[in-house]
Amino acid sequence: MQNIDQIRTELLAEIAAAATADDIERVRVAALGRKGSVTELTKTIGALAPEERRAAGALINVLKDEIAAAIEARKTAIETGALSARLARERIDVTLPARPETEGRIHPISQVVDELVGIFAEMGFAFAEGPHIETDEHNFTALNIPPEHPARQDHDTFYLPEKADGTRLLLRTHTSSVQIRSMRKAQPPIRIIVPGRTFRADHDATHSPMFHQIEGLVVDETTHMGHLKGCLIEFCRAFFDVDDLPVRFRPSFFPFTEPSAEMDIGCSREGGGLTIGKGADWLEILGCGMVHPKVLANCGIDPARYQGFAFGLGIERVAMLKYGIPDLRTFYESDLRWLRHYGFAPYDVPTIAGGLTR
Ligand code: PHE
Repeated sequence: MQNIDQIRTELLAEIAAAATADDIERVRVAALGRKGSVTELTKTIGALAPEERRAAGALINVLKDEIAAAIEARKTAIETGALSARLARERIDVTLPARPETEGRIHPISQVVDELVGIFAEMGFAFAEGPHIETDEHNFTALNIPPEHPARQDHDTFYLPEKADGTRLLLRTHTSSVQIRSMRKAQPPIRIIVPGRTFRADHDATHSPMFHQIEGLVVDETTHMGHLKGCLIEFCRAFFDVDDLPVRFRPSFFPFTEPSAEMDIGCSREGGGLTIGKGADWLEILGCGMVHPKVLANCGIDPARYQGFAFGLGIERVAMLKYGIPDLRTFYESDLRWLRHYGFAPYDVPTIAGGLTR
């Protein structure tokens, strides 16, 4: 059948020429569709002499399969080509800056931790952490708070069930436990900043059973009270972004520091509001002091050679002061409206150079 060879040649040429998925579909319909050229050929079989029908039918079937396979192959080639072209066209440049996220917000606690760590990192402090579940030794005894010491009463400690040997683990009541861990790990010079969760069995408008503190510790041969004051004054001025922020240090007591002090910053409560940096009022901001010689000795550091200072500050408290957040409890309610209002844009990472806040 000469007709068959001609149709084959023509169709194969059309298939090879098809450049798009639409082209190939058009060829398929023109060949194998209900009125397609190959389909029409099939219909001519009936007109042949009975003895010729078998051979003609076989030839037409071969043609049909051949064309169908060629169409399929061409289609796959076109699709792969299109995909590669598309991949090349849509290649993503991962070095481009990220699109600012409009929905997600950074929680004020995370933001303030970044700000605090940013300031102290700039002063040369290293970041350190410790576990939430602590031993009595790290949280109290080594910090010069022996068993039965009245200071333990102030801490409203959460204890874990007593173990067989009579000891009890606890949820750390302050980040000062990390002072002990750090001093037992390394000899001076030490300069660390330790943000983290702390726990006390207390719950009202100004206390939460879980809250955050940040601890600072510096130990070296020449460290003295002047360093403590200079460091903390510098820190408060950077954090609250007030260059001439008034500050004062009041004598205080902590078992693990001697002398101990509390630091206040100047503020005004006029008109019911709170303005930091001016006015005649004072606001307590942190506890601090020179590391007690007994604490150094408890950690294997020679108090005749080394001295240090330490400080601890409540993160929620400074976040509330800085960003005018009135109620402590709202920090943990996961209320999206609150987060949208007080939260921070994700890519607004605080740095000393770029600014701490929006
Ligand atoms: N740990 C003390 C507290 O939780 C704060 C503090 C830390 C005071 C370091 C002095 C030195 O209140």
